[in-house]
Amino acid sequence: MKNANPIKLSLNNALLIVLFFSLAYFIVTYLFSDFNIYLLLVFDLLLFGIVFFSFKYTLEKFVYQKIRLIYKTIYNLKRQKGLKVEKHEYDVNTIERVNQEVLEWGEKKKMEIDQLKKNEVYRRDFLGNIYHELKTPIFNIQGYVLTLLDGGLEDPAINHEYLLRTEKSIDRMIAIVEDLETISNLETSQIVLRKVKFDIVELTKEVFEFLEIKAKKKKKEFYFAEKNDKPIMVEGDKKWIRQVLVNLLENSIKYGAAKKGKTKVSFFDMDENILIEITDNGYGISPDEILRVFERFYRTESARKTEKSGTGLGLAIVKHIIEAHDQTVNVRSRIGVGTTFAFTLKMG
Ligand SMILES: Nc1ncnc2c1ncn2[C@@H]1O[C@H](COP(=O)(O)OP(=O)(O)OP(=O)(O)O)[C@@H](O)[C@H]1O
Ligand SMILES: [Mg+2]
Repeated sequence: MKNANPIKLSLNNALLIVLFFSLAYFIVTYLFSDFNIYLLLVFDLLLFGIVFFSFKYTLEKFVYQKIRLIYKTIYNLKRQKGLKVEKHEYDVNTIERVNQEVLEWGEKKKMEIDQLKKNEVYRRDFLGNIYHELKTPIFNIQGYVLTLLDGGLEDPAINHEYLLRTEKSIDRMIAIVEDLETISNLETSQIVLRKVKFDIVELTKEVFEFLEIKAKKKKKEFYFAEKNDKPIMVEGDKKWIRQVLVNLLENSIKYGAAKKGKTKVSFFDMDENILIEITDNGYGISPDEILRVFERFYRTESARKTEKSGTGLGLAIVKHIIEAHDQTVNVRSRIGVGTTFAFTLKMG
């Protein structure tokens, strides 16, 4: 029955029983004695009353009140979680509402479970990646130390060299652990941004100098798109923005063109923001890989082949820092032509 409720159900049952009784009374009295319509009406009325009220009472008491209890539980659960709830009086639509609430609740739980499953896969990948990245330097160190202990220490041909290699592996491990610490701090929002106004041109020049030796070793060159003799003031946490510039410029050293590698830095005035672009003339990133470069530990196929050092955390850190500033970072690239990373900062 559509929109069934205790009153309708009781009414139906009472009418059915009264009809059945009347028919039986009619047949019996018609066959065996006098048929008395008044007696039948009084009887029907009584019967209708008894059946109607007893049915209604039973339904309400045992079925409807139980459903109301479920509804109350849902209502309280929602209220405890601080969700918006509409308090309805008990009425004919209670069952439909309970049904609706249960459906919504089920849908929400399903979404929560899906998210938990995704997190689980992510956590597993993350652990796998950390293990993979730390494994190489640890086993290298073990190999060098064992060789030194097995007599290599007295061999002047290898002892110094092996200690140097050990130190390199330890540096690698420290760099990974530091990157992980940075990411973890950024993700748990343990970092409070200390925003100041500063000149982004000056900061970029300082980072150019900081990376100069590294760049020269790899035959790379940094330059500004324009002269930039005037300061460009921005607002942000200087220490973290410096980290962004270091990570992006370091990438352009690593993945820039092998010969005549040039990295250009440009600034664009965008009313409230400054857009900073870092463009290299490297081998670029393919369209199917570009969407993933900001993921933790992601490294492109060609990067893995050509550049051994690298964990794939640099750009994930960049993204976190820029987003913590409520700004955006993106990348565009063409294979064989080069890559541009662009991020915005609030004008100071
Ligand atoms: N300028 C670029 N040109 C081409 N590919 C790039 C460039 N910058 C980044 N990539 C690709 O994006 C990947 C992720 O970069 P990211 O800086 O996060 O990691 P990484 O440089 O490999 O390691 P890390 O920065 O942690 O030492 C790189 O491995 C590389 O494949
Ligand atoms: Mg990097």
